[in-house]
Amino acid sequence: MTSILFVCLGNICRSPLAEGICRARLEAAGLAGRVRVDSAGTGDWHVGKPPDPRSVAVARAHGIDLTPLRARQVSRRDFTRFEHILAMDASNLSDLRALSPDKGGARLVRFLDRDVPDPYFGGPDGFEQVFAMLSDGVDVLLADLIERI
Ligand code: 4NP
Repeated sequence: MTSILFVCLGNICRSPLAEGICRARLEAAGLAGRVRVDSAGTGDWHVGKPPDPRSVAVARAHGIDLTPLRARQVSRRDFTRFEHILAMDASNLSDLRALSPDKGGARLVRFLDRDVPDPYFGGPDGFEQVFAMLSDGVDVLLADLIERI
């Protein structure tokens, strides 16, 4: 089964949104059982916590429920458990590279060709912008994946 792990810093703002959008699109396409989707953070500050209320709100406004999600920290095991590990920004990517095993394992890339900005210290507009970027990115990702599964 294809598997995708979205990774940001805290796993409470960007990557849970990416996970929720991806799950929703897969369900809409009837492919929920074909692709495993998860998210994690490089940091451990928010482990066990639900997503940031601003991410929950923007997702809800687009018909997506993030409330069942809980933050976790990425681990070396994720490199063998997931086929694709998608980093939200260049800093997440470099932290993941440092953690990754020397050989084999997941395909590790930055999710988009630019950073998904960290909205944590900003206002609600930032979350709407992040949602739009992630939504477009997930559409491209799934169009590509669906051709191959
Ligand atoms: P995320 O956002 O990486 O998109 O989940 C952040 C959440 C929390 C913190 C930083 C970024 N923090 O510093 O606690």
